[in-house]
Amino acid sequence: MANDSVVSVRELVARRKPGFSLEAPFYTSPEIFRTDMKEIFGRHWIYVGVEPDVAEEGDAMVVNIGPSSVIILRDDAGEVRAYHNVCRHRGARMIPEGKTIIGNIVCPYHSWTYDLDGNLKFAEHMAPDFDRGCHGLKPVHLRSVGGLLFICLAEEAPADIEDMAAIMEPYLAPHDIRNTRVAHQADLIENGNWKLVMENNRECYHCGPNHPELTVPLFAYGFGFAPESLDEEGRVEAERYEQLRHASCARWEAAGLPSAEVEHLADRVTGFRTERLPIDRSGESQTMDTRAACRLPLGTISDAASGGLSFWTQPNSWHHFMGDHIVTFSAIPIDEGHTLVRTKWLVNKDAVEGVDYDLAKLTDVWNATNQQDADLVAIAQEGAMDPAYQPGPYSPYTEGLVEKFITWYLSRVSQGAE
Ligand code: FES
Ligand SMILES: [Fe+2]
Repeated sequence: MANDSVVSVRELVARRKPGFSLEAPFYTSPEIFRTDMKEIFGRHWIYVGVEPDVAEEGDAMVVNIGPSSVIILRDDAGEVRAYHNVCRHRGARMIPEGKTIIGNIVCPYHSWTYDLDGNLKFAEHMAPDFDRGCHGLKPVHLRSVGGLLFICLAEEAPADIEDMAAIMEPYLAPHDIRNTRVAHQADLIENGNWKLVMENNRECYHCGPNHPELTVPLFAYGFGFAPESLDEEGRVEAERYEQLRHASCARWEAAGLPSAEVEHLADRVTGFRTERLPIDRSGESQTMDTRAACRLPLGTISDAASGGLSFWTQPNSWHHFMGDHIVTFSAIPIDEGHTLVRTKWLVNKDAVEGVDYDLAKLTDVWNATNQQDADLVAIAQEGAMDPAYQPGPYSPYTEGLVEKFITWYLSRVSQGAE
């Protein structure tokens, strides 16, 4: 291979062998990381949180994405808005990352003060001809899809989020995200490139050997297998899954729960996929005993065995919506070798911890699974940094969605890359 430092992203994209993992620089090079932040995270819709993160007027949440920092807040009229967290005086960061409650946004440096609509209301000691009207906060595109918040840092955001919203809102509506509450959030910094985090998420090849907790409720067979490699026990399990999937899907559709697979991971700018999947045993929830973790159901869901609606978005999220709780995940790149994976567990907004749900039972499966995935991503990153690494073949049966993620990534990153 030629010297990595002089190979452009375009050349690397052009010579990528379909069906194979990427060449090492995609996972290890600071230059490609900067390109990813510009072309992928700077131009696409990024999942950052849920409306209940900013439930009340004056609630604010700051999310940092690479060099950018974004304030997401609920204004006095109840609308969710997003602004760049950059003061229009000399650019200071105004609010630290995390959640807070604000009346106005007051810059800590020289006290320039903005209202929740982003207007500059107060700026002392400026010249007589200074026009406050020209120095409001810069807005960031924000779209709530059924209560899931997506932002876009580009001047012009991809318009096809409206297509995704039109398809997804009926799927999400029964779970009524806006009437949930964030019961818990966990931030995990994984020792791997963001694409390794996403690749790991897009396959369940690794589930059997690595996820003893997750594979209690989740059927790894739902994500593909090579028929000829199954033993007798495996064949019986795969058939049981297929029958359950058919029967469950018909029952859910009849009860008004959209369930059929919709897949646009590689053929849209705003790529996504959804499918309602059966849960094993009781069919209720992704918990260690597969029973609901919270006794107050979500939204309009009356069938306790409503399985789990899964929703995947490019480039950075995946979600599981169940009858009793929701788990949402965002991957936010930190540098070429580190990624923040942020997990939120949502329950009915009236649910009381210790009365209606037990936090350990709610979070056990995904706390364990996230750590297992972080360990896998870390060894994948170590391997990508080894001089002996070369791209290897994806399984056509179990890694089809990994290939779709990579196909999407390559077509999007090469749009403006050098
Ligand atoms: S930089 Fe914000 S008030 Fe001066
Ligand atoms: Fe995993």
